[in-house]
Amino acid sequence: MNQQQIIDKAKEILSKMSLPEKVAQIMQLSYAHMSEDDRRMWIERGIGSLLHVMGSEAQRFQDMTMETKHQIPLLFGIDCVRGHAMNPAATVFPCGLGMATSFNPEMVERACEIAAREVIEDALHMVFSPVLCLGRDTRWGRVDETFGEDPYLSGELAAAMVKGYQGDGEMRQDTGVLACAKHYLAHGESLGGRDSYDVPITNRKVMEVFAPPFKKVVEAGCKSIMTAYHTIDGLPCTANKWLLTDLLRGEMGFEGFVITDWDNTGRLMWQQFFSPDMRHAAKTAIEAGNDMIMSTPSFYEAAISMVESGELDEKRIDEAALRVLRVKLEMGLFGEKRSYFHNVKNTTMACEEHLRLNEEFTNQTVVMLENKNSTLPLSRDIKKIAVVGPNAHNISSQFGDWTFYTHPKPDFAKTPKSVNISIWDGIANAAKERDIEVAFREWDGPKAVYKREEPVNPNDIQSAQREEASLGDEFGLKAGQVRTCMPDYDKMLGVCEGADVVVAVIGDDPTLNGEERDRANLDLPLAQQKMLELIKEAGHKLIVVGVSGKPLVVPWAAENADAMLWTFCPGMYGGSAVAGVLFGDINPSARLPISFPFHVGQIPVYYNQLPGWHGEKYIDMPKEPLYTFGYGLSFSDFVFTNLECPDSVSAESGDDIKISVNVTNHSEVDGTSVVQLFFRDMVSSVCSTPVKQFKGFERVFVKAGETKQVHFALSPDELAIVDHDLRRVIEKGTFNLIVGDGQYLEREFEVN
Ligand code: BGC
Repeated sequence: MNQQQIIDKAKEILSKMSLPEKVAQIMQLSYAHMSEDDRRMWIERGIGSLLHVMGSEAQRFQDMTMETKHQIPLLFGIDCVRGHAMNPAATVFPCGLGMATSFNPEMVERACEIAAREVIEDALHMVFSPVLCLGRDTRWGRVDETFGEDPYLSGELAAAMVKGYQGDGEMRQDTGVLACAKHYLAHGESLGGRDSYDVPITNRKVMEVFAPPFKKVVEAGCKSIMTAYHTIDGLPCTANKWLLTDLLRGEMGFEGFVITDWDNTGRLMWQQFFSPDMRHAAKTAIEAGNDMIMSTPSFYEAAISMVESGELDEKRIDEAALRVLRVKLEMGLFGEKRSYFHNVKNTTMACEEHLRLNEEFTNQTVVMLENKNSTLPLSRDIKKIAVVGPNAHNISSQFGDWTFYTHPKPDFAKTPKSVNISIWDGIANAAKERDIEVAFREWDGPKAVYKREEPVNPNDIQSAQREEASLGDEFGLKAGQVRTCMPDYDKMLGVCEGADVVVAVIGDDPTLNGEERDRANLDLPLAQQKMLELIKEAGHKLIVVGVSGKPLVVPWAAENADAMLWTFCPGMYGGSAVAGVLFGDINPSARLPISFPFHVGQIPVYYNQLPGWHGEKYIDMPKEPLYTFGYGLSFSDFVFTNLECPDSVSAESGDDIKISVNVTNHSEVDGTSVVQLFFRDMVSSVCSTPVKQFKGFERVFVKAGETKQVHFALSPDELAIVDHDLRRVIEKGTFNLIVGDGQYLEREFEVN
């Protein structure tokens, strides 16, 4: 069907539907929160979508829709942010932040194509991904889901995700699933890093920083967008017509449907105190531009009654239902996709092809932060390695949030049904091939016990960090409590005895990161810090490996470790990827998509801030981050020369600005450089252009001794600012170009 036929068909279906059927069609409810009787009742009412159910159970309800009056297929939604990770049998990729360290949109796209295949085999069609929140306040729990702090990188990777899920251009009729970009908009900016508090930014900031990545996914054809929970400057996103309609549809040209986040509509009343009752909330959400209402069952009666009383125009309900039906038709849900599950003969879930791609991808996501005196790759003379620390053998910390460990209900007793190589496993496997002894000690220090119903009490975490309180007996713990016993350091040091190097694997775990786990303190827990110091004091060569959902505060490790690698929730192949770098089988090519602070009090430390001018420093510590965006070491040594660009370009011509640079690998090791392009607008009318802005990147493989020329085509539109009248304009004048990877060349050009 072409677009016109699809629209005509959607209209034809709509014309036969009653008001209650149309209202049900624009609702999405949680399977887990309903009784079987309720589920059947909603199917009879003609509900449009269910979430958090999969496989035969989802298909059972899909099949029931054939008995309903209009036989409209159900759309099944799932949180699939790093592969179909809520299914323990599926391929689990690194988290968004981990994926972003690769600076590799092609890999991201291929991973999401795989995720789509596994999702559709489970009878599902809509993935709540990509996540376009920016990780700028890293106290926020959900930083692991983001692509880091930069809008340009986020937009590029998110657009690649959309293509992977849906298809490039047209929706893949066989395995394409609906992407849902979220959380619209600026969710990560909540005050104090506390999830869904007010986001005190202006509409200009919205347009300058947070809207551009959404524009990229709209251009990539993303067909659904999720409204964020919070308020922006006091106005709930759910009620923000300018945001959901004028900006999204008017300016960005979005044509899919907007879905609320979980019970946004109800929260207008019971959490945000914006609506006095449900009827007001239903009208507000619909009139602002939400087309599908997630997890608010009482929306049904409220919306029907508002239309019947004439307070809500039925035309808006029609428009929303039409958008939902149109997407269902476009994605082929009325056709074979509806019964894809029945027709799967050989499942591809975590099949060899998917695993190989995942392994290759994960190998590109280990960031080398330190490598003093070329400690890595490990010398071939090494005879014994000791592996210690809480994340040495902790698959749940490698998998992280939005996996079967944490959703729909937290359960750390579950185990992945497919590959899960812990850091220790990876090192042990690689060491065996080389005849190296590996001594390992299971972590017996503090661990938090997380139950979603009773979130971790930050005071408990603090007390664990202060080494306080009586030693906890694991069995005596209540949900939400933290075990406060300290590890048996003597035994740990005993294991390290005689080791040529000690690999200490530190970080956080899904009790300390993820949704509803915001933290005020990002220090390493005291037990981990003490472990590192004792290893160093004992005179060992110390290699620190971080496994976490976000940057932690690790200045001591940065100064004292002989080498330090970092990986953000790397998933199944975290262990082999880390071991690959340790032993030199992999030359690290990952770079940081997010900055590491020296101290939590420095936050925010994102690189693209506005210039300060009066005492732009702290008196008690550097103002710079410990590691900044784009940083990451390699075993190769890249040198940049010959940065070329036109001396002047015309803003009006619209032609891409052609930039090139030479990169030479001055080492004996083949390697991949992530060449980064930034610019600075030297003078601007809004006095608000950041010190530099990231606008291009290229992964380039350069053989030892070789030189390659790298080309960029920068769209002049990327040079635009948003002025105080909310217009995107390119202001003429001098711009500074900054290109490189570790070493950066600069030159100016004029825009006329
Ligand atoms: C989260 C969303 C998620 C939704 C459905 C919400 O709590 O904010 O990101 O997609 O739940 O699980």
